[in-house]
Amino acid sequence: AAPAGAKQPEDVVLNVGHRGASGYAPEHTFAAYDLALRMGADYIEQDLQMTRDGVLVVLHDETLDRTARPTAESGPGDCTGLVREKTLAQIKTCDVGSWFNEAYPQYARPEYVGLKIPTLEEVFQRYRKSVNYYIETKSPEAAPGMEEELLRLMDEYGLRRPAAERWQVLIQSFSPASLQKVHALDPSLPLIQLFSGTETSETIQARLDATAAYAVGIGPSKDDVDAALVGAAHARCLDVHPYTVNESAEMEGLIATGVDGMFTNFPDRLDAVLGES
Ligand code: G3P
Ligand code: CA
Repeated sequence: AAPAGAKQPEDVVLNVGHRGASGYAPEHTFAAYDLALRMGADYIEQDLQMTRDGVLVVLHDETLDRTARPTAESGPGDCTGLVREKTLAQIKTCDVGSWFNEAYPQYARPEYVGLKIPTLEEVFQRYRKSVNYYIETKSPEAAPGMEEELLRLMDEYGLRRPAAERWQVLIQSFSPASLQKVHALDPSLPLIQLFSGTETSETIQARLDATAAYAVGIGPSKDDVDAALVGAAHARCLDVHPYTVNESAEMEGLIATGVDGMFTNFPDRLDAVLGES
């Protein structure tokens, strides 16, 4: 992996730890982030949700149902339902490690039991400027103010300038409106437009001109990537970071198309592939 905080040379393929090393540890926990960094990830990914009291927390799903379990501290309903209908205090009672031990016994560890949902601020407090962040505004239409709060925290932790200068923070979204809002707030910030798996190489190519007006790259589903898409993106100075690539042979195939990085639940596998190439 390249040194933290350094924008990569043009010929380097970025290793993005998808929800951390979420193949091996519970997604969006410090355990998963720490492991991703030890495994050679250049970036750790954060998916953002906003609580009822306006705090940005790091969780993939809009609801708590899949990954949160109540603890002795939890009240009835604290750990089910929509994040945006809970306070931070409610959410902080939940355990987001136990589900992983049950689902993936081969990677289960006792220390995962009781892990808590981090706030974005806690993530910035833990890693400061020592790592690169790849942050997604999730369901931003349901969380007014998400973008402003993200920028406020980046300012508080001195991350806005290194984001602009060396891509220490990449901001990603499936929502063009969310990215355009960030772009209007600060046109110097590097943005990645995600495309859902319902797109194709051709439909994404048709949207590249519009995307290039505000973004520095695209995040397509891995199955939509071919050399034509990568070439068309590069012709518009857009980098290409497919998601979510977990098998070594797929990683090699995408690298052959010319992609500039990829999201993976297994950063060690990508690190090994990149070490061989
Ligand atoms: O952000 C890239 C990739 O993570 C998009 O899919 O659903 O895992 O956030 P998702
Ligand atoms: Ca994501």
